[in-house]
Amino acid sequence: MIELNYRNVSAEKVGRENGLELDAVFGEYREKISEIVTRIYAEKDRDGGWKRWLNLGYDKALADSLNQYAHSVKGQFSDMVVLGIGGSSLGGYALLRALLHPYWNQLSDEKRNGLPRFYFVENVDTDQIAPLFEMLDPQRTLFVVISKSGTTAETMSAFMIAKEWLEKNLDAAEVKKHIVAITDAKKGVLRPVADREGYQTFEVPDDVGGRFSVFCAVGLLPAALCGISVAEMQQGIQDLDKALQNPDLSKNPAAQGALIQYLLYERGKPISVFMPYSYRLASVSDWYVQLWAESLGKKHDLNGDVIHVGPTPVRAVGVTDQHSQVQLFNEGPHDKVFTFVAVGKPERDLTIPANQFSEVEDLNYLNGKPMSQLMNAEFESTRASLTSNQRPNLTITLPQVDAYHFAQLLYLLEVQTAIAGELFGIDPFDQPGVELAKKYTYALMGRKGYEELIPVARGEKSEARV
Ligand code: PA5
Repeated sequence: MIELNYRNVSAEKVGRENGLELDAVFGEYREKISEIVTRIYAEKDRDGGWKRWLNLGYDKALADSLNQYAHSVKGQFSDMVVLGIGGSSLGGYALLRALLHPYWNQLSDEKRNGLPRFYFVENVDTDQIAPLFEMLDPQRTLFVVISKSGTTAETMSAFMIAKEWLEKNLDAAEVKKHIVAITDAKKGVLRPVADREGYQTFEVPDDVGGRFSVFCAVGLLPAALCGISVAEMQQGIQDLDKALQNPDLSKNPAAQGALIQYLLYERGKPISVFMPYSYRLASVSDWYVQLWAESLGKKHDLNGDVIHVGPTPVRAVGVTDQHSQVQLFNEGPHDKVFTFVAVGKPERDLTIPANQFSEVEDLNYLNGKPMSQLMNAEFESTRASLTSNQRPNLTITLPQVDAYHFAQLLYLLEVQTAIAGELFGIDPFDQPGVELAKKYTYALMGRKGYEELIPVARGEKSEARV
């Protein structure tokens, strides 16, 4: 099981000014947390509650249908291109980066066991997209287009380019076999298109929003297509969920993480740094940044009052950022709370040779040591230096990076976000703040009905809204 260690947020460790009197605050919030956790889980099936993602780890039928499709196409495709953005992309990418060989795309077909290489198109920058099409073989490429709404300009424009590319290069009857669509069961623009064209489809279930969708087909289909065990991920979620459903604050790591982050935000620490000490988990930082920012950064509270609240998440990765951001983390403003992710043991280790520069005294301490020992020492030291500098920090530890524990990590952070949303008194499942720029884009691109916004979008009028 993964574990959360929060001892370094205590006043005892980082001082009263920067830390929390944990016994006191846990006592103070015990009842409130109990109500919140009970309410969240009670609402997991409520229409319009946006909490159906709590059920995904138990959905055996979903796992079966994904595995069945993955099995049916095995060996047909050398490359898989996922078209999606935000919640429709970040989780799947983090998942493949963590659970596949770190240089998967460079492995031979044989070493990949006939499973596809993967690419994610999550930008409309043609310097990313055009070279990809130059490189791919249409006969051997599968596109997985993911959009709950089907109206997302970035995803749909890339999809139209991909479809045209397939049509130019394949027989008409073949094209649909190279496209899978993941979208809403009934609503949206992509659903009728997919049904009409006869694509294989999977659902983004009702009441599962983008950034909470990694454990439906959005994240799990790319995983299954690359041979990752969906069953192990679901088992990991189920086993952890027993603790996360527990209304007792002292036993619930998601509630502990949420409460600590909330209280430190309220006490002048608006920045939340997420720093895995793992190359394989580096992209989890990007996923976390979106989850935390889009869920908690809100103008209005649940009563409609303007509060402009929300912690700013910052991405970091150990050990790389020790030579980049850690100077700021240790000596800059006291405005941050840190979440480290540590991994018990790497899948592979290396020994630093003992006889390479034996004449160089300053390097002798490295001789013959496992590289993992250096990684651990650097993690422990960075954490200790932050603690000495009175910077509150939490550590989530995974025994190893595998499907079971990876799923636990993401699920823990999802539940933590839902609880944090309640503590902040906001709706963590909406994202009204991204709408305005979308409307301006529609205006600039000539979408019907948005003409009036053109001068504002061009910056010719200063009104923020029309
Ligand atoms: O978390 C979210 O809700 C968003 O990031 C969406 O996932 C993103 O905007 C893409 O939306 P869609 O799946 O409708 O294309």
